Amino acid sequence: MVRMLFAGSPNLFVARHCVRTQLNRAYVRHFSNPQKYDGLVLGAYTDHSKVTLAGTRGVSDATQSSLLQQLEVSNFKKAGDVRVLYNLGGVQQVAVVSLGEQPKSPSEAVQLEAARRATSLGIHALKKQGVKNVGVDVSVSPQGAAEGAVLAQFSFDKLKNAKDRSPEIQVGPFGEASTEWEHGEIYGTSQNLARMLMTTPGNLMTPKLFSEEVAYLLAGLENTEVIVRDEEWAARQKMNAFMAVAKGSKEPLRFLEIHYRGADEGKKPHGLVGKGVTFDSGGISIKPSNNMALMKGDMGGAATVVGALYGISKLALPVNVVACVPLCENMPDGGATKPGDVVRGMNGKSIEVVDTDAEGRLILADALYYLSSKFEPKSLIDLATLTGAMDVALGNVFAGVFTNSDVMWQQLESAGKQVSDPFWRMPLHDGYLKEMKESQVADLNNLGKGRSGGACSAAAFLKEFVAEQAEAWAHIDIAGVMDSQGTDGYHIKGMSGRPTRSLIEYLKQAV
Ligand code: BES
Ligand code: ZN
Ligand code: ZN
Repeated sequence: MVRMLFAGSPNLFVARHCVRTQLNRAYVRHFSNPQKYDGLVLGAYTDHSKVTLAGTRGVSDATQSSLLQQLEVSNFKKAGDVRVLYNLGGVQQVAVVSLGEQPKSPSEAVQLEAARRATSLGIHALKKQGVKNVGVDVSVSPQGAAEGAVLAQFSFDKLKNAKDRSPEIQVGPFGEASTEWEHGEIYGTSQNLARMLMTTPGNLMTPKLFSEEVAYLLAGLENTEVIVRDEEWAARQKMNAFMAVAKGSKEPLRFLEIHYRGADEGKKPHGLVGKGVTFDSGGISIKPSNNMALMKGDMGGAATVVGALYGISKLALPVNVVACVPLCENMPDGGATKPGDVVRGMNGKSIEVVDTDAEGRLILADALYYLSSKFEPKSLIDLATLTGAMDVALGNVFAGVFTNSDVMWQQLESAGKQVSDPFWRMPLHDGYLKEMKESQVADLNNLGKGRSGGACSAAAFLKEFVAEQAEAWAHIDIAGVMDSQGTDGYHIKGMSGRPTRSLIEYLKQAV
């Protein structure tokens, strides 16, 4: 269900991208007959010099032995090695991917990752060679294989000339379709949805267009309600910190409130908040021009929250979730907030805006206070591309978690490990707040002193706006994992959509 305060149909131009990210496709196909494929992805273990197929179901003895013979003469060894063989057992092209040595007693997380990575490598190889219908070996992990297959298919070429777009392919499990395969598809599709939202250029993903897109994507899902709020509403709520950022842009702000009701009404919800700055120019404290284009991804928190909601709703997880997404642009104009201006956030604390480029914490301050005081969440997570300092500290392997709860840290760490989208714990400490309390004119500054510990002072600032009604809170700084320089298996060059799968896994485990 959608409650839109605004008339107008969903933006069809943007909506069409969803089709490209496989959102609306039924792709679970049961191929009993390998002849139906023109391509297969098979996994193989390479122990020392011996090659063994991970799964042999549906592969005849003769085909196996011819396949192994070919591999043995092609120096097929290292994990990640891919060989494409032709006209084998009635299939035109077979991509065999090395899984490396067979582990003795692998955990589920190890199996998931092996399948995820190998499948994506196989799909990339076959796609390059014009294959249209791919069957995927699911013997190591059907969920991992489906995730890898869906993530590897992501493309964003709708804005290119038709002849330069990458062709669509069909992918299904080689063997039985299963719930695990379907779940893997949902995990992968949710992350692709976040990637699509982050990759879409800022002019096509303004706060207004983002809201319309989300309404379009989530509206039809079970137990899901999307409420879209405007400036007047934000003013009535006294969200002055949020409005102080939005007012430098001609594009009006939006505030999304999304409810997913998968459990009894009386059960406390989990809260999610996502930073939704659809473009961050820095405002009056304007950013240098090199790489500024990347700041279309400054709504990565919002995108991953929306992706996760899509996933939990599709999986029908037995939880209640409420998500809040403040959306605006951070721009310099005659009406923009100036360095030195003071605003009073919704919780009554005054903030001196020393640097208008530290805008994320301002919009999150009001969203965190609104959600924590109004919905009294059992757990509350905010996600934000908040500081360049986070990227300096952890790069793009781990996202940084700052939390006041050891239990929540353990749950997040375990969720991240399970889906190989990992977290590293960072310090949440009042020591970092000290320098933000030294304003001459307000309760708080929005900036620490110098660049040291920038991610930690931002987290300490946010804590001042989490109402005590929230039982536990975690802030996840995703600036480092926002994007990637190159493609590596199922990780793609460009906007990552991370950590959507970890969020879904957290809510699956935290029920
Ligand atoms: N959106 C940026 C942070 C960012 C940087 C995200 C790189 C992704 C990649 C944020 O609003 C920002 O500008 N932060 C400033 C904070 C500083 C002014 C305290 C920063 O990190 O430089
Ligand atoms: Zn900024
Ligand atoms: Zn920003």
